[in-house]
Amino acid sequence: MKYADYFENIPVLITDRCILRPFARNDMNSYFNILRDEQVQKYLGGGVPLFDKEPHITNWLNNINGRLLKSKKVFTWCVEDKESNKVIGRIDLGGFIKQSYAEIAYHFARDSWGKGIGTEVVGCVTDFGINKLLLHRIQGLVMVENLASQKILLKNGYLPEGVLKLYPFAKVFHDTAIWAFIEEENIKG
Ligand SMILES: CC(C)(COP(=O)(O)OP(=O)(O)OC[C@H]1O[C@@H](n2cnc3c(N)ncnc32)[C@H](O)[C@@H]1OP(=O)(O)O)[C@@H](O)C(=O)NCCC(=O)NCCS
Repeated sequence: MKYADYFENIPVLITDRCILRPFARNDMNSYFNILRDEQVQKYLGGGVPLFDKEPHITNWLNNINGRLLKSKKVFTWCVEDKESNKVIGRIDLGGFIKQSYAEIAYHFARDSWGKGIGTEVVGCVTDFGINKLLLHRIQGLVMVENLASQKILLKNGYLPEGVLKLYPFAKVFHDTAIWAFIEEENIKG
């Protein structure tokens, strides 16, 4: 498949314990419950505010599954637990530059933490970015205090590139660790 073909529809990706698939309307209440948790929000810098009213819900679904996908801006996956069929999180790969670079972002329900789910899902999306989209760099920005998220990146082959002091992180300015997965063989041009 060519790069552009992946943006026709959000590709369904499967891990040992999860299905990564497009969000649908009947996922939204479960997803909003995840976003209502202060512990989930703690290191997101206000970047994923609750949007549990119309027309925001419809607009968001139309954007992630339509306009933003077709314009090759971002993949937004709903993470479903295979066994329970519950929505347990979200992961995004976006900000593409020259079919070569992207950023990864993710958040999961608190009751799924500490079981390796984050590591598994980030690994799957990284693999998709590097081996299907043939990106050469996937970048993760993480608040310095967010050790669990940095551990996920480390375990998936990302390397730390330093700390950006008081960097714009979503809606705040915060010391931000920059991590990147590099595949030099994928460099274009
Ligand atoms: C951060 C987050 C994604 C981690 O997901 P998770 O599924 O719990 O992660 P995993 O279980 O795969 O692994 C986390 C690793 O970090 C470690 N860890 C967890 N909390 C930690 C802490 N406070 N300090 C150091 N390490 C920690 C775990 O032990 C594990 O490492 P191990 O496998 O070597 O034991 C999840 O807590 C989350 O969604 N948080 C809210 C949103 C968020 O912060 N998103 C990331 C923004 S950059």
